[in-house]
Amino acid sequence: MWFYLALAILLYFVIRYYRERQEVENLTEKYVFITGCDSGFGNQLAKQLDARGLRVLAACLTQKGAEQLEKLTSDRLKTTLLDVTSTESVAAATEWVKTCVGNKGLWGLVNNAGIVHPVSPSEWLTKEDYVNVLNVNLIGLIDVTLHMLPLVKKARGRVVNMSSIMGRLSTFGGGYCPSKYGVESFSDSIRREIHPFGVKVAIIEPGYFRTSMTNIQNNLESLEQQWIKAPEEVRESYGQPYFDKLYKLFKGTLTTCCCTDLYMVTDCMEHALISKHPRTRYSAGWDSQFFFIPLSYLPTSMMDFVLTRTWPKPAQAL
Ligand SMILES: NC(=O)c1ccc[n+]([C@@H]2O[C@H](COP(=O)([O-])OP(=O)(O)OC[C@H]3O[C@@H](n4cnc5c(N)ncnc54)[C@H](OP(=O)(O)O)[C@@H]3O)[C@@H](O)[C@H]2O)c1
Repeated sequence: MWFYLALAILLYFVIRYYRERQEVENLTEKYVFITGCDSGFGNQLAKQLDARGLRVLAACLTQKGAEQLEKLTSDRLKTTLLDVTSTESVAAATEWVKTCVGNKGLWGLVNNAGIVHPVSPSEWLTKEDYVNVLNVNLIGLIDVTLHMLPLVKKARGRVVNMSSIMGRLSTFGGGYCPSKYGVESFSDSIRREIHPFGVKVAIIEPGYFRTSMTNIQNNLESLEQQWIKAPEEVRESYGQPYFDKLYKLFKGTLTTCCCTDLYMVTDCMEHALISKHPRTRYSAGWDSQFFFIPLSYLPTSMMDFVLTRTWPKPAQAL
């Protein structure tokens, strides 16, 4: 019986491997629009798809980012400026994409742009701190998707949404984790709704990777800022030793836990765009696959124990 079970599992993986290796045709005629191409995953994916011959429409937040990307890529790649928090900017980018793609429609929409700061215990933050992150990571992503969907439907293409493993389990305070839970939820809804139109939706869930988002100095400065800004009463309840220990823990995590191989993520994004049979979810990174995903299936009390066992104790803890 065990032999047949092992054989069935092996067969499943072999079939899946060959199925997922099949690529869509006419890649060089396909247009892909990517947000947040100034740096990190978006920047690398733009270069990667350009090298494969796809027609990349790269949206950058800054002129400098756009110019730098153009210098490193072929004439096929075109850039535009886009701030996903501004509906005017999103509408203008949509018009630009429309003129670029013509009758072909948009094969790929990659919602990659995102921010993370501020990250700190929730009580140190304000409503505005949450709103700023949610506006970029979730509302911006929804706005871009709603504007671009008619073009994607025309091409019977793909939507690739950048979530995070923090969209599966929440490990720190601030707007980031709620925004990524929202990305998961929005992506699940539209996947079911637009499947009848031949559009596929994929969600990317990376673990910790070294990009400007995980820059150690920026993150530590941001944590310190939040501590300084927190109301006096809140600071008293946590105490200075709590902050000092948290700062050390944060620094240690950012120093040791970030993978530098960004291809682990951009290869998943590329697969979601060019495979005939893309996956619904891509958990990119060893930490994501072998720590966070299994952890997310544990009973909540066990998950809480594992995640908080190294956290410092607040001064006024019971
Ligand atoms: N790094 C990780 O460990 C990790 C893990 C899981 C998921 N992710 C996700 O991966 C995505 C890309 O992040 P990354 O790690 O590559 O960091 P990154 O290098 O900071 O890239 C984020 C990009 O988004 C752009 N951006 C920021 N605000 C924007 C706005 N309002 N409108 C348009 N673009 C905006 C940034 O532009 P500027 O550079 O000009 O600010 C930058 O190009 C994000 O959605 C992030 O949540 C990252």
